[in-house]
Amino acid sequence: MFLRRVIVAGGAAASALLTAAVVGKVGDDSNTSIGSWPPVCTGRWDRNWDRREPMSLINLSKVKGDTEEELKRQLKKYEARARRHIFLIRHGQYNLDGKTDAECVLTPLGREQADLTGQRLAHLGYDYTKMVYSTLTRAKETSKIIGKYLKGVPTSSSDLLQEGAPIRPDPPAQWKPEFMYYEDGPRIESAFREYIHRADYEQDEDSYEILVCHDNVIRYIVCRALQVAPDAWLRMSLHHGSITELLIHHNGNVSLRSLGDAGYMPVKCLSR
Ligand SMILES: *[C@@H]1O[C@H](CO)[C@@H](O)[C@H](O)[C@H]1NC(C)=O
Ligand SMILES: *[C@@H]1O[C@H](CO)[C@@H](O)[C@H](O)[C@H]1NC(C)=O
Ligand SMILES: *[C@@H]1O[C@H](CO)[C@@H](O)[C@H](O)[C@H]1NC(C)=O
Repeated sequence: MFLRRVIVAGGAAASALLTAAVVGKVGDDSNTSIGSWPPVCTGRWDRNWDRREPMSLINLSKVKGDTEEELKRQLKKYEARARRHIFLIRHGQYNLDGKTDAECVLTPLGREQADLTGQRLAHLGYDYTKMVYSTLTRAKETSKIIGKYLKGVPTSSSDLLQEGAPIRPDPPAQWKPEFMYYEDGPRIESAFREYIHRADYEQDEDSYEILVCHDNVIRYIVCRALQVAPDAWLRMSLHHGSITELLIHHNGNVSLRSLGDAGYMPVKCLSR
């Protein structure tokens, strides 16, 4: 909106904009404190939440010639054209008695849940772009089972998606020492920044991306994507194997299309 005002106002304002850019004031339209750790939630929608508003992708000192026209041209160029559909899958039920990660394997029910979720994703019929799974055993196993139904979908792993303590929840739950949030929080925030953002301006077509990960990671990501208070994450609860879908529109608007959907599973297969 800031920019539209500038462009409508014409050349003089455009050069005022350039001056503002040089002294670093262009970010005024977004709340830069949202990029800080821990994330600040203002209650207002920050359109530049992912730092991919076209205005953020331009070095204004390089806008030459008829400034207004050139600026419009560049803003058009850097606008995302596609939408991203992100499917966040919680792993299936696993052995809670495991001492090491290798022992935290899926239970027979957990494998069945993963199987049902794989079938569900296949039935949805999207042309999946990729699947990324957390490197913890239970997520790895879940993605392997899902992969049986999604042949040919490029698959990779990421340590960023591992389970952890994203931020001290409000209202408080089981007490944990601060260092756990201190260590895990920024890493889970990195996962959010890495995987949740509007499409790259070079992306031509809508993408359908699957992230196989964990309860806390998914709940934190949902809060961050919707720009609600991140410490609200523990107020939600997800079924094992469930599907949470976020849609990121080309202009950065975000819709939560489903949260922890497991309605396709028979009741006897439901667990949390
Ligand atoms: C940005 O967030 C801070 C902290 O919540 C708030 O005080 C400030 O008013 C916000 N600025 C804008 C431009 O929204
Ligand atoms: C932006 O572009 C100008 C002109 O080409 C250049 O001198 C300047 O270093 C660039 N700014 C940054 C932060 O790279
Ligand atoms: C999405 O964002 C634009 C501003 O970029 C706004 O005008 C529009 O109403 C929003 N749409 C929805 C559905 O939130």
